[in-house]
Amino acid sequence: MTAATTDQPRWTRKDLLTLAELSREEILHVLDTAQGFQEVSTRSVKKVPALRGRVVVNMFFEDSTRTRMSFELAAQRLSADVVDFAEKMSSTQKGETLLDTARNIEAMGVDIMVLRHPAAGAALHLARNVKCCVVNAGDGQHAHPTQGLLDLFTIRERKGRIEGLNVAIVGDIVHSRVARSDLRGLQKLGAKVTLVGPATLVPKTFEALGARVTHDFDAILPEMDVVNMLRIQKERMTDSGFPSVREYTRLFGMNRERLKRCQPDVLIMHPGPVNRGIELAADVADGEHSSILRQVTNGLAVRMAVLFLCQQANMSPERED
Ligand code: CP
Repeated sequence: MTAATTDQPRWTRKDLLTLAELSREEILHVLDTAQGFQEVSTRSVKKVPALRGRVVVNMFFEDSTRTRMSFELAAQRLSADVVDFAEKMSSTQKGETLLDTARNIEAMGVDIMVLRHPAAGAALHLARNVKCCVVNAGDGQHAHPTQGLLDLFTIRERKGRIEGLNVAIVGDIVHSRVARSDLRGLQKLGAKVTLVGPATLVPKTFEALGARVTHDFDAILPEMDVVNMLRIQKERMTDSGFPSVREYTRLFGMNRERLKRCQPDVLIMHPGPVNRGIELAADVADGEHSSILRQVTNGLAVRMAVLFLCQQANMSPERED
């Protein structure tokens, strides 16, 4: 490698919108940066001054526990000021558009907007129209890039690698922004992804994205290093997508019996919130193979990395527009 290439900044984006647009090197750079930030959460004073004087606004137009709190804590641990935009008490209720809302917030000197919105493309729309950083915290069924990154981080932490692993993503793929972000990220880092679920929720058209599609969960279990169970998203379905919840659980739920068919060191993941007893039996969710709470812990370090890298890039004269 020449001196010229080593001098190139490894992250030049002011926004994080999808994993599809990131290179393998950019993804690895976020994961490595997150690794460095992980130690901050173990200190007695859980703070570093990386974003001191900067302002982060959390703009959530959908319910959230993990992502909202994780971004808030991540910004606080970087010493940023954090403002929570309360949609229900905002002038969006009087008809103000998302973009007008964002421009008014930006006019108050905000540096980073973290946006969760039910419309796919909402974060991209903002990013193209504001100068501050925009981080996508989930847009409709399109993308949830920080969930994808924290899932990659957790797999790498637990398995020591991602390249060559067999990863199943199970459930409501068609409605899932997590599945789309995980698929893109895993493929870029060299994992082999199998999408599993009923044909109504996992159509064969997903094969065009380079994934294997199957409707037979039991058949693929012994091959898998990682099984990522998705939530059944009743709020996004116009019809149920499967005959009954009991039928879904019988065919696609992860339970102790199915766990016995898996490799002894299989990693069971779930982005949360979990429908206990539907996609995941409670004893598996709380069992030794589960990484559910570790994913949440890792999400904090990953979001610190994303906030830090985007803000740094936005201050750099070499940044991408
Ligand atoms: N995994 C996830 O996005 O959870 P929340 O909806 O609680 O943020």
